[in-house]
Amino acid sequence: MASSTRTIGVFDSGVGGLSVLQHIRAALPDADLIYVADSGHVPYGDKSPLYIEARSLALTRFLLSQGAEAIVIACNTATAAAAHALRLKFHKLPIVAMEPAVKPAVAATRNGVVGVLATVGTLESARFAALLEKYAGNVKIVTQGCPGLVEVVERGDLHGPEARRLVERYTEPLLKQDADTLILGCTHYPFLAPLIREVVGADVALVDTGAAVARELKRRVDTELPPRVVVGVAGTETFYSSGDAEQATRIMSGLWGKEVVVQQLPRDFS
Ligand code: DGL
Repeated sequence: MASSTRTIGVFDSGVGGLSVLQHIRAALPDADLIYVADSGHVPYGDKSPLYIEARSLALTRFLLSQGAEAIVIACNTATAAAAHALRLKFHKLPIVAMEPAVKPAVAATRNGVVGVLATVGTLESARFAALLEKYAGNVKIVTQGCPGLVEVVERGDLHGPEARRLVERYTEPLLKQDADTLILGCTHYPFLAPLIREVVGADVALVDTGAAVARELKRRVDTELPPRVVVGVAGTETFYSSGDAEQATRIMSGLWGKEVVVQQLPRDFS
């Protein structure tokens, strides 16, 4: 019997992609969502593109083995390193990827200076250079790599002294260059948005692409996947981690906002 719902696979280098999963849940309330945190290999930001590509292929294969009909790369760094290869390999599969929100930030800035907080891997990628080429126009874009920031979110430390020290250190050069709009160019950073807001003040706009990615996913699911009977039943969420499952259960329950049980990603895919 045909299932009444959709199965969507979502992955990130770790827990950050949960910030995107929240938007996906809102956009597709009856879809079954499978999320993989590759926390056994986090951070991706300082790894080679080839390493990230290999991890992205393994995680996609796992999600397909679990029945995923569409994939969301809920990671800017993995998008830069692996989206092209994934799309070549799985050319019939809807794959939604994500990039720093340069276009909306360029539209939002009032003084023509936009700051980008992202991983070094994202900022050094050809894909990011192409994004600036396409959308920056006359706006000045200043960038800041943020080593260590992903790790504080992985530990669930969203407000502690280490998180604050790093947020102050990484936003200061951007504010000094007059950025009035900051792009949160890594899916871990929206979890730090309240702290970033405290540090940079109310006048600086913060933008990310989680909601846009969820909208794009919905559009592609609606247009590219065969129609299904929807029975109005809420979709499920299933969580896996390549890191320590017990720690992942604790951290991801906190970030997701309700108790979840995180399963160990099978060894073949870890
Ligand atoms: N969430 C990933 C991103 O959006 C973090 C990458 C990392 O693990 O360094 O870029």
